Amino acid sequence: MSKNKTAAPAVIPAHIAIIMDGNGRWAKKRLLPRTAGHKAGFDNFVSTVNECARIGVSYLTVYAFSTENWQRERDEVDELIRLMNNGITKYMPEMIENNLRLRILGDLSMFDTDSQDMLKNSVQTLSGNTGMLLSICISYGGRQEILQAVNRLLAEGRQNITEQDLASCLYSAGIPDPDLIIRTSGELRTSNFLLWQSAYSEYYFTDVLWPDFKKDELHKAIESFATRSRRFGK
Ligand code: FPP
Repeated sequence: MSKNKTAAPAVIPAHIAIIMDGNGRWAKKRLLPRTAGHKAGFDNFVSTVNECARIGVSYLTVYAFSTENWQRERDEVDELIRLMNNGITKYMPEMIENNLRLRILGDLSMFDTDSQDMLKNSVQTLSGNTGMLLSICISYGGRQEILQAVNRLLAEGRQNITEQDLASCLYSAGIPDPDLIIRTSGELRTSNFLLWQSAYSEYYFTDVLWPDFKKDELHKAIESFATRSRRFGK
C-alpha cells in the first residue's frame, strides 16, 4: 500500500451525508475573504468525495447551498455559484475516472439557465457509471423538499398516502436514508438538512472546520459510527 493511502476503516456506512460548515470561520482565522474559505471548502469537498469512493462508501450526500443561503450578500452568493460551476466542470474528468454517479437535490429553477444546463449535463455524463452516487444538495431545504412532495401528491389527487408514497416524491427518491450524518465546525443543529431521511441516522459533530476536515477526520467519524448500536426504535 502506498504511503498516503491509509487503510479503510473496518465498518463503512453505506450512506454518509455531510453538512460542510465553517468555511467563513476558516477564512477569518487566516484574515482571508470568505470566498477563500469556500474555495478551500470546495477543494476539501473534492478530496472527501475521492476518499469516500476509495474506501467503498456507496452513497455520499453533501449540503452545498441551502434555500436560506440565497439571503447571503449577493457577492458571496455569486461567488458560490461561480465556484460550483467552475469547480464541477473542472472536477468532471476525475468523477468519470472514479466511476461516480451524480444527483442534484434541490430547487434548480432558482439558478440561471447556464448553471442549470451545466448541472443537468454533468448528471447525464455520469449516468452510465456504476460507482458511488454523489448527491449534491443545492438550493435545498428539508421542509421545502417535503412540501413539494406533498403538493405533487395533492396535484395527483392522492389520498391516504403511505411513507413510501411520500419518500418516492422527495428529491432523494430511490436513495437509501443516510446511516451517518456529519456536521463540521462545532454547530449542534441539523439546519433543515434531510429532515425526512434522517429519522434514524447517527450524527457525528466535530469542532473541526470544513476545509480542515481531512481524511483522518473522516475516518474518525466513521470509526465513531462503528461503535454505535442502532436499534431503529426497536
Ligand atoms: C458553510 O460555511 C458552507 C457553505 C454555505 C457553502 C458550502 C460549500 C462548499 C463547501 C463548497 C462545495 C461546493 C459544492 C458546489 C459542492 P459558512 O460560510 O456558513 O461558514 P461559517 O459558518 O464559518 O461562516
